[in-house]
Amino acid sequence: MDISISLPPGIDALQKHEQLFDALITSLAKIEEELGQALSYADDLAQATTRHLLEAGGKRVRPIVAVLSSMLADENVSSGQVSEPSSDIRKAAVSMELTHLATLYHDDVMDEADQRRGVTAAHQQWSNSIAILAGDLIFARASMELTDLGARAVKEHSRTFEKLVMGQLWETMGPKATDDPLDHYLRVIDGKTASLLSTSALLGALLANGTEEIIQTAAAYGANVGMAFQLADDIIDVTSTSETSGKVRGTDLKERVPTLPILLLRQEAADGDQEAKRVLELVDGPLDTEEQVDAAVTAVANHSVIDTAWKMTTQWSDQAIAALNGLIDSPVKTALIEFAQYVVSRDA
Ligand code: IPE
Ligand code: IPE
Ligand code: MG
Ligand code: MG
Repeated sequence: MDISISLPPGIDALQKHEQLFDALITSLAKIEEELGQALSYADDLAQATTRHLLEAGGKRVRPIVAVLSSMLADENVSSGQVSEPSSDIRKAAVSMELTHLATLYHDDVMDEADQRRGVTAAHQQWSNSIAILAGDLIFARASMELTDLGARAVKEHSRTFEKLVMGQLWETMGPKATDDPLDHYLRVIDGKTASLLSTSALLGALLANGTEEIIQTAAAYGANVGMAFQLADDIIDVTSTSETSGKVRGTDLKERVPTLPILLLRQEAADGDQEAKRVLELVDGPLDTEEQVDAAVTAVANHSVIDTAWKMTTQWSDQAIAALNGLIDSPVKTALIEFAQYVVSRDA
């Protein structure tokens, strides 16, 4: 099968590293094919529901991070030569993407989201029960991919899966009275998102037979990029249109998820900022109609907290880049730096 792959808009900078770019694109095309093979069921409903979001697309950032991190461990890296990642590395990438995909089914139920990847969310197309079960089916296949990759890969995946669910649980429960809301929020995104990006990077380096030092460097890079990725996602929730994001704008506001822009508004309002108070009246007011959500989203998007939020987000991508400091210069290192920069400049 000939699958054409395009990287998310904004990562085009990687194209100038020709050999690396070719190896990345070739392995992503194979991963795409293997994702399709991994989600194949005799049962018509299982087939239709699990493939609904798989085929709708997505940026595939976890496979991208796994593949680039595997290249970091490649011993020819210093000569500028990168070899194509092995089938084991691709299996890990498939497992990470499937784990992510499964969480999207569950997340859209929890967030009552209407749209995902530009298509109707699975729970809207079928039902909550069917969407939850589709997610479970995908989790099962995500685990299956790891069977031949060794005990450590299986263990890292289990640990990550638990951490991710804890992140979703903490978000659902909200901060305790004694918790600082910003600390709580950062713990949530470390759990629900950074964990999976970190493990994608870790498994890439591990399965490329990287040294423990390279494996830990990759994991630290992935964790920081993952934080930046989710912080950016939360800004994009109010600044992007659904045409670019494939999701409904303002979903976090509607669900009353206190994301970074809202936490910053609360801090500024507490410090006496009148404009922040006015925006929060809309955010905390009724959000039952499209007009109400639009007014709240626009007010947040036009407030200076968005600039502050982007600046804070950039600190995590800078930390991701700093995690690579000890490595010799190579096209792979540059590509990882560019990927970290893409994460905080994206609008979808
Ligand atoms: C969405 O992830 C959920 C978050 C962790 C922010 P992505 O933005 O990677 O979603 P897809 O895979 O591109 O649809
Ligand atoms: C992302 O959740 C994390 C997981 C799906 C585990 P969000 O609710 O923040 O992401 P979007 O905005 O729906 O993609
Ligand atoms: Mg959501
Ligand atoms: Mg959510």
